[in-house]
Amino acid sequence: MKVADRIKNIEESKSVGLASIVAQLRSEGRQIISLNVGETDFPTPKNIIEATQKALAENETRYSLVEGIKDLRIKIAEKVKRDNKIDANFENIIIANGSKNILYNIFQTIINPGDEVIIPTPYWVTFPESVKLASGVPIIVSSKNLQLDLHAIENAITSKTRAIIINTPNNPSGEVFPKEDLEKIVALAEKNNFYIISDEAYELLTFGNIPHISLASISKEAFNRTFTVQSFSKSYCMTGFRIGYLVAPKEIIRGMNKLQSHLSGNSCTFAQYGALAALETSEQDLNEIIEDLETRRDFAYNLCKDIFPKTNKPDGAFYLYPNIEDFLGERFATDVDLAKFILMKANVAILPGSFFGTPGYLRFSFAASIENIKAAFKQIKEAL
Ligand SMILES: Cc1ncc(COP(=O)(O)O)c(C=O)c1O
Repeated sequence: MKVADRIKNIEESKSVGLASIVAQLRSEGRQIISLNVGETDFPTPKNIIEATQKALAENETRYSLVEGIKDLRIKIAEKVKRDNKIDANFENIIIANGSKNILYNIFQTIINPGDEVIIPTPYWVTFPESVKLASGVPIIVSSKNLQLDLHAIENAITSKTRAIIINTPNNPSGEVFPKEDLEKIVALAEKNNFYIISDEAYELLTFGNIPHISLASISKEAFNRTFTVQSFSKSYCMTGFRIGYLVAPKEIIRGMNKLQSHLSGNSCTFAQYGALAALETSEQDLNEIIEDLETRRDFAYNLCKDIFPKTNKPDGAFYLYPNIEDFLGERFATDVDLAKFILMKANVAILPGSFFGTPGYLRFSFAASIENIKAAFKQIKEAL
């Protein structure tokens, strides 16, 4: 059997690959603590479950509009206007099967063969592969201390640059990029006429008084060239619903709608009713989730720093991303070796920084229970 070059040229999602190794070890009777997964262990809020059940009971089980049910797009437009200060209406919105699907569709819609997309490190594993699947060329640009290196980004711009991907709050680092840097990205995009893909999957998950800034809110010009990618997965604990959306200029939405009409049609109709209810989740319920995550962040940070002194205190998302270069040498040649050791000897699953374009780091998710976080770092300390 032969697969097409298109598939040969991409890598399997390494984080998904690790999940199957963990499943195998568990089936052999090993007790593995998962600090590798990109989802919280909170249950989906009750109001979302009830609205989805009601939609099922009312037979909302048929094809619906390819771009998403109108009520949901209207509600999302209200939400992004109010919370993200993005001047959108429902025609600026399209729903798809998670923001992963949105990203794939964006590149299929805007990339011609050979077009370049700038991706600052560390990056989420799917970014370069989605660009390659559209025959584009990912241009990986190193960052400075996990923050955007604007000078390096400017140097990477060529006549083929079509877009840049900015992800704040960031997976894997948990860093939140300051407004001044986002404004400079907008200025570079305007000067050199390229698009900005703003992945805001973790928008609601920032800690303390750190605000989340949407790039499309910076100016009218920013709105006209920014594709805001958001998701119900992380903020509302709805990873399995597979509902993500894009806020973008209408002509891009129309192009994506054309693609989606052949690719997948609408995303799950009754899940969209769950998403509609998610937007009505009380501020108090959302704050409880965020406060709980902040407690876990502080707890995990102290334990992690005790083992890996170069641990950053993230302002958003739910990951710690310590620099572990001081641990590399004879015993562990690379971050991948260290992550493997931690899996096999400490029974804790984490991800190496190499997966995200930054060798020398490890990613720990703190979206696990306090007991699991405590046990995980204890086991790692003993194994090391
Ligand atoms: C930065 C980022 N973007 C997008 C996604 C995809 O989320 P979903 O497809 O569930 O909306 C993830 C998931 O881990 C992510 O970390």
